[in-house]
Amino acid sequence: MASNENEKVERLKRLREESKKGGGEKRIEKQHEKGKLTARERLDLLLDKESFEEIDAFVTHRSSDFGLEKNKVPGDGVVTGFGKIHGRPVYVFSQDFTVFGGSLSETHAEKICKVLDLALKNGVPVIGLNDSGGARIQEGVSSLGGYAEVFWRNSMASGVVPQLSAVMGPCAGGAVYSPALTDFVFMVKNTSYMFVTGPNVVKTVTHEEVTSEDLGGALAHSTKSGVANFATENDADCLKQIRELLTYIPQNCEEKVPPVEPRQADPLKEEKLDTLVPHSPNKPYDIKDVINGVMDKESFLEVHELYADNIVVGFARLAGRSVGIVANQPLSLAGVLDIDASVKGARFVRFCDAFNIPLVVFEDVPGFLPGTDQEWGGIIKHGAKLLYAFCEATVPKMTVITRKAYGGAYDVMNSKHIRADYNIAWPTAEIAVMGPKGAVEIIFRKEIEKAEDPEKKQKELEDRYKAEFANPYRAAARGFIDSVILPSETRQKLIRAFELCQNKVDSVPRKKHDNLPL
Ligand code: HXC
Repeated sequence: MASNENEKVERLKRLREESKKGGGEKRIEKQHEKGKLTARERLDLLLDKESFEEIDAFVTHRSSDFGLEKNKVPGDGVVTGFGKIHGRPVYVFSQDFTVFGGSLSETHAEKICKVLDLALKNGVPVIGLNDSGGARIQEGVSSLGGYAEVFWRNSMASGVVPQLSAVMGPCAGGAVYSPALTDFVFMVKNTSYMFVTGPNVVKTVTHEEVTSEDLGGALAHSTKSGVANFATENDADCLKQIRELLTYIPQNCEEKVPPVEPRQADPLKEEKLDTLVPHSPNKPYDIKDVINGVMDKESFLEVHELYADNIVVGFARLAGRSVGIVANQPLSLAGVLDIDASVKGARFVRFCDAFNIPLVVFEDVPGFLPGTDQEWGGIIKHGAKLLYAFCEATVPKMTVITRKAYGGAYDVMNSKHIRADYNIAWPTAEIAVMGPKGAVEIIFRKEIEKAEDPEKKQKELEDRYKAEFANPYRAAARGFIDSVILPSETRQKLIRAFELCQNKVDSVPRKKHDNLPL
């Protein structure tokens, strides 16, 4: 090579090196000291080996305020590009905290917007690794504009391609809204936080003293606010969990999830199904034992595990095919539907429907939670979200009633009346307007008051109500459930029913968009 050409190659190599170094050794060390990986190390763990293709590595900011023209790092604080996860393409961006604290400048935002545009155009999921001090302060309103450009694209891509966000460092101010607009939010315990205003502002405005971790750490958002779907142990664990989640979801809204090699259910768990539901309707059992006894062995991936645990949602596989699970959990608040459970369930159902993932509901629900907290908090509109989500869903929908299906909750939890495809009940099912005690107290109040022994009378009437109404056969007689089956038959029945729904076509009336009760 002539020396002139050598120089050109050297220049490229130098620029590449410069871009890879980010904010330099010292800042990289600091990042490691905090227990965090760098933007590039994270991508190495997230993506299949050597699959990453970087774009825009030589982009630099255009600002000259505050002497910024003397401080330009190629890449401008975010590494963007595409790669593969389990052999399937994804677009990625990974903010580099070592460059201006990962803060978002106009050009940094343009890089993120470019991958969002490409993801949307090519029908490919996009994963954002967030680690940023927010808007680049020196750029003022230009960086605010940059954020809004990102938000707008997040909104347009919603429901078209899956969008996953990992919060792996600070995420403050308006910066929290990009993750909030995406489908799933992962956080890392002890090293990440999200809040609209930090502890100092909180103290000034409300006089509360709170740490960053308590205010907006991974546990706060995965247990209290529900903003985060996953609280992970460290960066490596977070990236591993993102890889795992992607195996259950398709590339875009036009595609289905590629099936994997089918597995049997866990034989020990499947065997126990027939004796799992206790004789007493007041005794709890773990609905996850039902899920694990019916689905392919060890395929259940729970989403939002720590939030509103009276409802369980997550992905699993049935004969190798991805399904979304929504299940009432008798172990927590007797599986009742409250505000948080309704919202959690609704959001998950809508994700599954948007991305062609069939739904399986396991139902054991005594009703909606009564009380002023719930009524004044808007259980009516929040419960309506779950109802709405099941009503509008056109993916294959199956329901297994294991025990209680009472009142409005019976209708809401994917009943036949709102277009479920296959509804079955176990012999232990109780499908009625309300439980025996409440029903008898209302319809036989006078007889009970007049009786010589009111307690005895009440018991007699409850037993009669139970025998006549608290069973699956009234609903079966109306065709509201398709069959009453033994618990151990559930898996086979669902597999067969799903086979027939593979090419299901259903629709909603033409509209601009719906008006989901918010
Ligand atoms: C420019 C920033 C920056 C920012 C951090 N840096 N945040 N540069 N704009 N927003 C730089 C620091 O100057 C420093 O540069 C380096 O990043 C690391 O920051 P440190 O403060 O040393 O790190 P640490 O102690 O870990 O603290 C991290 C932090 C803190 C908590 C994020 O930096 C911080 O509070 N930053 C400001 C956060 C903020 O108020 N952002 C604006 C939010 S408002 P050197 O050269 O020393 O390494 C917003 C509006 C968006 O985002 C609205 C959208 C709708």
